[in-house]
Amino acid sequence: MKPSTSASTEFVGVTTSADQLAVDLLFLPVFQDADDLADVTGLDAATGGEVGRARSRGEFLAKLYDIFLTPASAGGWRAGRVALVGAGRLEDFAPERIRRVAAACGHYARKRRVTSIGFLVRRVATPVRASQCVADGLVQAEFEIGAYKHDGAPGPAPARAVVAAPGADEAKIAEAVRRGRIIGRAANLAKSLANEPGNVLTPREFAARVSAAAEAAGLAVDVLDESRIRERGMGLLLGVAQGSAEPPRVIVIRHDPPGAPATPVIGLIGKGVTFDSGGISIKPAEGMERMKSDMSGGAAVAGAMCALAELGAACRVVAVIPTTENMPGGHAIRPGDVLTGASGKTVEVINTDAEGRLILGDALWYAQELGATHLVDVATLTGACMVALGRTVTGLFGQPDAWVQTVEQAAARAGDRVWHMPIYEEALEQLRSEIADLLNSGGRMGGAVTAAAFLREFAGGRPWAHLDIAGPAWAETKEPYQPKGPTGVAVRVLIELGMTRGGSNPAPGD
Ligand code: BES
Ligand code: MN
Ligand code: ZN
Repeated sequence: MKPSTSASTEFVGVTTSADQLAVDLLFLPVFQDADDLADVTGLDAATGGEVGRARSRGEFLAKLYDIFLTPASAGGWRAGRVALVGAGRLEDFAPERIRRVAAACGHYARKRRVTSIGFLVRRVATPVRASQCVADGLVQAEFEIGAYKHDGAPGPAPARAVVAAPGADEAKIAEAVRRGRIIGRAANLAKSLANEPGNVLTPREFAARVSAAAEAAGLAVDVLDESRIRERGMGLLLGVAQGSAEPPRVIVIRHDPPGAPATPVIGLIGKGVTFDSGGISIKPAEGMERMKSDMSGGAAVAGAMCALAELGAACRVVAVIPTTENMPGGHAIRPGDVLTGASGKTVEVINTDAEGRLILGDALWYAQELGATHLVDVATLTGACMVALGRTVTGLFGQPDAWVQTVEQAAARAGDRVWHMPIYEEALEQLRSEIADLLNSGGRMGGAVTAAAFLREFAGGRPWAHLDIAGPAWAETKEPYQPKGPTGVAVRVLIELGMTRGGSNPAPGD
């Protein structure tokens, strides 16, 4: 197998003006509202009048992700060519938009095998944040979706990328670019794990790859094998795993920076189902292949932990990633079986396809045993969440409202779309079992809500937030800024949360 990201780019952040950037290809974002590019002095002369002509003829209308390429080596400019890139409306140039525009540029550069690129950060009110997002976006294009293809691979990532924010504070821009690169690589790690087929990324392999990445980032990792999982009484996880020939694991990663206050300890819990067939309540064949990415939540947590270590987050964080397959083997759990979890709660499993909440129930409990005071879980949990919010929006649930809002604000800064959903008391009534403490499924109505209500029973009354990423974890269409496939959703939300110490520190940047 080829590496899932190509050899990576050297990044620099500078404050030099456009004419002084010695790169093969310089990307200039152009906004859709009146944008005469007057701040980019000498651009028209450098391009021999091409930019002016293209704009007056309407050849380039700055439509989002549109690219107009022209030589730009006249008039003392040091760039070989410039590419005007449609960046949409200036007021929409928020983190997510900037990242996408930069990612589209990164893909364009790779396709043309350009070896050194520049990106001009212009006209934005927050150039430091924007530079971070540009670096992050450019790094997204390093992700290799066709890891198992022999032919048709895009070119290598550029050897060098310069992010230039003329007039800004140079040290801050350099720092922002460094942050953006770390964050971008964390998202790429999550994407490459989610992209791996189930036959390759078994629970043991998932644990091995996450351990290697986390240890390389300087983190302490502990992987619980089956016997330790049993010792801990994690009967919900073991119940899901028993239908598979592959043994489960629980991956524990700790970030304990010296001198950090004892609390809060943020607990990040990620669903790590490496393949979800549904078990005995088996899924239909159509689209089942996507269930290789049912560990996207776990991958997001792993990526975020690596980034938090590399960024030197000042807060204690403990990650718990329960990982297993959900298979219909001869030892598989049957509908009607009752399982007992680590918390002591009993669950009647009426649908073996509602496996995510089972393994998360044990992991939420274990995170608390490891000292977590504030919990966030991330999971491709319910098709119902996709029905409710669409393919691009993460469902956010939790308690109390203050903690949910902290996560919501982190998501807003990170540029991930989340929507706060309610858990009314009726939801729990749908989970009432005749034989055990809980049913594992509340049926079709409010499926995302009843799943969240189930998880809440394992949060021990602590601040807890749940991100249902079933929709946004996987892009169903190819876009200029990303291939069809895993998206790395939630990675940035978790990083933002850790960097702001669960909301008590200001965000770095502008
Ligand atoms: N992994 C699935 C949820 C999912 C579906 C994620 C589609 C991404 C795309 C989860 O384990 C599941 O099967 N959930 C069931 C729950 C139901 C049986 C209560 C669902 O959503 O149908
Ligand atoms: Mn399932
Ligand atoms: Zn699942």
